[in-house]
Amino acid sequence: MTTYNLTSRLNHWIAAPLFIAMLGFGFYLAYGGAPMPEKLPMIANHKAMGVLLLGFGLWRVGYRIKQGFALPVASLPSWQEAASRASHVILLASILLMPLSGLIMALFSGFPTDVFGLFTIPAIDKVDTVSGAARMAHKYIAYAFVLTLGVHVAAAIKHHIIDKDGTLVRMLKGLPTP
Ligand code: HEM
Ligand code: HEM
Repeated sequence: MTTYNLTSRLNHWIAAPLFIAMLGFGFYLAYGGAPMPEKLPMIANHKAMGVLLLGFGLWRVGYRIKQGFALPVASLPSWQEAASRASHVILLASILLMPLSGLIMALFSGFPTDVFGLFTIPAIDKVDTVSGAARMAHKYIAYAFVLTLGVHVAAAIKHHIIDKDGTLVRMLKGLPTP
């Protein structure tokens, strides 16, 4: 496969702002200093959006697994090709592991998760060790996600401005590589 089709490009560009926004939202909840009673509806929104994003993430990652990755636009040193593949795999894993760890945290928190009044996911039980472990996972996977994203975006800009190859343009317009 030499390029990304329209479905792949839509998947990429719909997921990108949504997951970046959810990371920002989560870090705001954790470190923004919002006081507790006011914070509760924000946490409820974060959980509901996260559950919906799990659905979208399953589709997005499943589609990539079925289609495979496009070949690099230009021939790259082998370390760069390996780094690119590894970072894409970490990003795809994060798309699933972030909402999954959040959901496990919620399932064992003792509180139900209401998804915008559409449906409610009841808690299985209140088990602090499980919800605590899922919370740690949610936190450290988020850090890994952000670090990988930083490299990912820097690499996209480098390909476009320094290497002047079609990597970014192909993800935007899907033009086949020459
Ligand atoms: C605004 C920021 C972003 C830019 C400029 C950007 C740019 C790109 C480009 C140019 C590619 C193609 C790489 C290639 O052909 O080898 C790509 C692929 C990819 N990007 Fe991003 N990206 C951004 C944000 C994100 C975010 C937030 C995620 C995760 C939620 C993500 C996940 C991926 C994945 C998994 C791939 C591999 C192909 C695919 O499955 O879509 N990207 N990105
Ligand atoms: C798209 C998926 C998601 C992303 C990117 C995301 C991101 C984050 C981030 C970055 C944090 C802060 C972590 C920290 O440093 O402590 C956080 C906190 C949290 N997330 Fe998520 N999350 C997602 C999905 C979910 C889901 C599905 C749930 C539950 C159903 C959830 C529940 C929570 C809770 C309860 C907190 C703690 C809030 C607080 O500190 O008071 N998240 N999330």
